[in-house]
Amino acid sequence: MTIHNNFSLKPYNTFGIEAKAEQFVAVHSTEELCSILQQHPNEKKFILGGGSNMLLTQDIKALVIHVDLKGKKILKEDEESVWVESQAGEVWHEFVLWTIDQNFGGLENMSLIPGNVGTTPVQNIGAYGTEIKDTFVSCEAMHIATQQMKTFTKEECHFGYRESVFKHEAKDQYIITSVVFKLTKKNHKINISYGDITKELEKNKIQIPTLKDVSNAVIAIRRSKLPDPKELGNSGSFFKNPIISKSDFDKIHALHPEMPHYVISETEVKVPAGWLIEQAGFKGKRFGDAGVHKNQALVLVNYGNATGQEILNVSKDIQATVLKEYGISIEAEVNVI
Ligand code: EPU
Repeated sequence: MTIHNNFSLKPYNTFGIEAKAEQFVAVHSTEELCSILQQHPNEKKFILGGGSNMLLTQDIKALVIHVDLKGKKILKEDEESVWVESQAGEVWHEFVLWTIDQNFGGLENMSLIPGNVGTTPVQNIGAYGTEIKDTFVSCEAMHIATQQMKTFTKEECHFGYRESVFKHEAKDQYIITSVVFKLTKKNHKINISYGDITKELEKNKIQIPTLKDVSNAVIAIRRSKLPDPKELGNSGSFFKNPIISKSDFDKIHALHPEMPHYVISETEVKVPAGWLIEQAGFKGKRFGDAGVHKNQALVLVNYGNATGQEILNVSKDIQATVLKEYGISIEAEVNVI
């Protein structure tokens, strides 16, 4: 384990922002993680997974610990289901493809989401009608202060829309080291309720889709709408879709009847932030090297050498304009550092 000083984080964040870590170390096992924490009890620490959900607006004056634990295995199985454990540093999409190759169902709708397995519970990642909480069983995490391992059950994770205990009570206290998912071996619950998936399958004349067909459809949709971080720096959806009260929604909807929306409950409605941002005129706009993606207004992009601050400024401009024009506050989904 080598500790690097003044280490560039550009290859470690999908926005491709140049920022330096005062100190940086990659750990490859829980033993290494434990010993680094024991050796550096007093330094400030910053835990880095796949770097796919953060915007670096400054250098990190801390010991950055890159969780690079690899491995996946089947823990147990019965007639219907299989319990699969993945170490935190596995690349999410590669893990999803591996489960599909084994004909294990449940993660196919979340194909191609950037990031590592260990960070998926933090924001309860989701796409096309499925969230991690639907298949999540538990995760193991190391308590930073004591190095004790703790198992978080699904109930203890308090999952919500892009929310979990790791963003609240447990924030900055634990490092997730592995995650267990319960997947189907047969009678897969294929979820193609999302309109875009149905259209993609129809286009390919697929009537009874397999897990692989659903995954391929999701990959095709994502490739058409979302930029590949390897080609254009980005962090997926920059904002969360706002959930507003039914009474606020009714007022806005009367003025904008074409506004897409999803009824969450009798009192709450979710509105796509991408639509609001597009209506506010930001879709495809470029400000220096910072911009808003041309196919999906929810995604902010780095055309090359944008600083985190420049991207943050664009996000603030968007928030202020949407608030002024629609009276709706939109909140960042990515962690602004
Ligand atoms: N829309 C626009 N303009 C845009 C983008 C979207 O009008 O520029 C409209 C669409 O026409 C559609 C609605 O907004 O009526 C929803 O759009 P879409 O289906 O593309 O999904 P989203 O709500 O924009 C969410 C997730 C994505 C996920 C997709 C598919 C959040 C914050 N984002 O986006 O997640 O892939 O649904 O399930 O919930 C991510 O988190 O990084 C991410 C990409």
